[in-house]
This record gives sequence, C-alpha cells and structure tokens, in this order.
Amino acid sequence: MPQPPQSPDRDDALHVTRRTVFQAGAAIAAAQAGRGAIAQPAPNPAATAPVPNAAMEMPPQRMPIELQINGKGYKLTVDTRTTLLDALRENLHLTGSKKGCDHGQCGACTVLVEGRRTNACLSLAVMHDGQQITTIEGLAKGEDLHPVQQAFIAHDGFQCGYCTPGQICSTVGMLNEVKLGMPSHATRDLGAPVALTDDEIRERMSGNLCRCSAYPNIVAAIKDAAGVRS
Ligand code: FES
Ligand code: FES
Repeated sequence: MPQPPQSPDRDDALHVTRRTVFQAGAAIAAAQAGRGAIAQPAPNPAATAPVPNAAMEMPPQRMPIELQINGKGYKLTVDTRTTLLDALRENLHLTGSKKGCDHGQCGACTVLVEGRRTNACLSLAVMHDGQQITTIEGLAKGEDLHPVQQAFIAHDGFQCGYCTPGQICSTVGMLNEVKLGMPSHATRDLGAPVALTDDEIRERMSGNLCRCSAYPNIVAAIKDAAGVRS
C-alpha cells in the first residue's frame, strides 16, 4: 500500500536527536527532585533528639573491697564491673590463673572460692569481698608442691601448660566434691560412695579444656593424686 507523502513540518516535529533525549531526561529528573523535596515531611525534633540512657551516662562505679587470697589480705578499689580474674591478674599481678576464653567455656581461669571451684572470668570481684580465694600460687607449701601438682608433673599432665593452673585448681576442688559424696552426671549409684572411674573424672573435669589434648595423662595424674589404682 503506498505511503502518503509526509509534509516537511511533520518531519521536523518527529526529529529526535540524542541532545533532545538528554534534555528531556534532565528536565524530568529535576521536576521529580523538586516534587520529592516538597513531599519530604519536616523533621520532628522530638523524634531525632538523642534518647537519654541512664546506664550509659552513669560514670563507672568504684568500690573498695578486701580479698583473702592464698591466706593473705589484699585491699583494693575496683571498678564494679571488674571480674575476679582481671582483679587477680591486672590489679594484683597474680598471673597464674589464665584467661583462655573469658566466657566460662575453657576453665583456664579456675580458682577456689571458699574451697569451691569457680570460673574467675564469670564472677565479679566485688562479689567476693571478704572471701577466701585460693589460686595456683597458693597451693604449694613453700617448696613443697601440692600432691595434685606433683601428680601432674609425674604423669606429664600437660604440654604447653596454659590450661594447667586451671586443671590443677579444678582437680583440688573436684576431689573435695568427691570426698563430700557429691554425685556427677556420670555417677551410676547415688547411694554408694563415689568411685573415681575414668568416666567420673572425665565428666567432672569436662569444664576444663586442654587444647594440647593431654587428657589421658591428666586422668592418670588425677587418679594418682586421689590414690586410685589404675
Ligand atoms: S577464661 Fe574463664 S572459663 Fe575460659
Ligand atoms: S597443656 Fe596446653 S592447653 Fe593444656
């Protein structure tokens, strides 16, 4: 079908160049930006004002305490957020207790508080004001090592030694628990005296990890210290 001839005027009206496309796009964008600016709600000063946080604004609280560590009294003033482990290591420079995880998962920080094994990284120093604390530094009597320390040496119950202070303090506390007849998850007969089997030892010491995996020797050392024949 033959096309009708187009007039020169219509040709001009449809003539689109790259320049006219860019110009049209820029004009549309400017119009939309202007409309958006008008549509934006005015900021609400109440909504944007900082919310006061009493806990964050409070200055650190410090508190004087006295800890009885290895039979000696230590007076110190600590930030109330200080853990017992940091008080021992950073304030009193008793660095035998180790910081492994700082989350209560490895047992490297185990000390005895009033004779009971405790993860010092999970306990605040101010909670122990006036209490008796035994660390690895306090187990030996002068030159005489504690029997558990001797047993760990005799059985090579360590390799790098990082977990060892915690292992030894935990063992001392654990053997005391056994002496008191406290059962564990592995105890079969709750009416009978606890038999310190390998399973009992492994269960009771499960909170003390050893990255060198010296576990067989640790178990042997504990049995030796407890006077259990293998
Ligand atoms: S450092 Fe305390 S449990 Fe690991
Ligand atoms: S001896 Fe190295 S972590 Fe236990």
